[in-house]
Amino acid sequence: MSEDRKLGFDTLQIHAGAAPDPATGARQIPIYQTTAYVFRDSEHAANLFNLAEVGNIYSRLTNPTVSALAERITHLEGGVGGICCSSGHAAQIMALFPLMGPGCNVVASSRLYGGSVTQLSQTIKRFGWSAKFVDFDDLAAVEGAIDENTRAVFCESIANPGGYITDIPAIAAISDKAGIPLIVDNTSATPYLCNPIALGATLVVHSTTKYLTGNGTVTGGAVIDSGKFDWMQNDKFPSLSKPEPAYHGLCFGEALGPMAYTFHSIAVGLRDLGMTMNPQGAHYTLMGIETLSLRMDKHVANAKKVAQWLENDDRIDYVTYAGLESSPYYDRIEKICPKGAGALFTFAVKGGYDACVKLVDSLELFSHVANLGDTRSLIIHSASTTHRQLTPEQQEAAGASPNVVRVSIGIEDADDIIADLDQALTKATA
Ligand SMILES: Cc1ncc(COP(=O)(O)O)c(C=O)c1O
Repeated sequence: MSEDRKLGFDTLQIHAGAAPDPATGARQIPIYQTTAYVFRDSEHAANLFNLAEVGNIYSRLTNPTVSALAERITHLEGGVGGICCSSGHAAQIMALFPLMGPGCNVVASSRLYGGSVTQLSQTIKRFGWSAKFVDFDDLAAVEGAIDENTRAVFCESIANPGGYITDIPAIAAISDKAGIPLIVDNTSATPYLCNPIALGATLVVHSTTKYLTGNGTVTGGAVIDSGKFDWMQNDKFPSLSKPEPAYHGLCFGEALGPMAYTFHSIAVGLRDLGMTMNPQGAHYTLMGIETLSLRMDKHVANAKKVAQWLENDDRIDYVTYAGLESSPYYDRIEKICPKGAGALFTFAVKGGYDACVKLVDSLELFSHVANLGDTRSLIIHSASTTHRQLTPEQQEAAGASPNVVRVSIGIEDADDIIADLDQALTKATA
């Protein structure tokens, strides 16, 4: 196909990163179930270790099946390079790793997946890193939180659990002005609904566990680099702009230009932190991603229908779905996620905590699980599970108060989803 013809999303989700196997002609990407790769000779080995030649050395760093997935997600996100990791949480640490050092901080949205709040507020302290959480709807607060030790700004495009939409261009303008990369977790939106890089993000992270795989089979993550950030513009990112002692003094920024971040993530990050995706896991995600756009259209259509039904039901206090005209985030859809506001939202049940627990226990079609982005409709009471480790104030800020449940609307028949909610609400609020 002609080089200058730009392929559409539906084509890329099937073909990007995937050529017939050169050895066998296999049309589907083989699962390269191997730990290591035979060097042609000693010069070839030395070239690979010197990054003078690109190729596989050892599967902790790269593997052809995993690389095909990384390349596919990179194309879908409009980046220049990417890596896959063992989970979404691993991807978040990997995204921060080339940027941070002891004493550095990340300015993060208070509306994040509960596990991310815990990772950033508690666990990263062990590395000497810290996080400052602010309301990302308050742009002055975001700007004010950035200090001389800030090395990244972090948010979700469509935030879990409430489905709130972040004004990515406004946040990107602040991080650009400060000379700091913006990292957007695009898990709940997927590149089909939202393109953070086109909206100004530097890096995109994913839990591929969710919609990208789409069938609830494997955990995985990805970090995609836009290639647009100038790591040499200030002294804040020495791993990329100065000789890297962890890679025999190579200056990644000088040697690799726009691919500096990706190569650092492989040659130092994956090599030393080992948060590697396995090829079998990559295979499941490659299978799932082929139908991403079809699933997302149906997820969005179902979510809209279910959210509208819930909003009009007397047993419900409020519904947070941004696709409802009543949502304060409704106006952001056109700019941030023009194909729809996703399929993840919360609703508050009259009767509070007890009614929420009864509702969850009474559903038959919904699965009560700590996951989202499956073909199946899923529900969880965030305050007693995913957001349990948070303080009541953090729960409230994250949109996970005790009186709300979070749903991830699947691609079953919308009428069946509604019927299940109806019968369970009757029991929960009797
Ligand atoms: C928005 C978001 N980001 C990151 C993660 C972490 O991903 P994983 O469970 O694959 O580590 C999750 C998990 O639920 C999530 O919802």
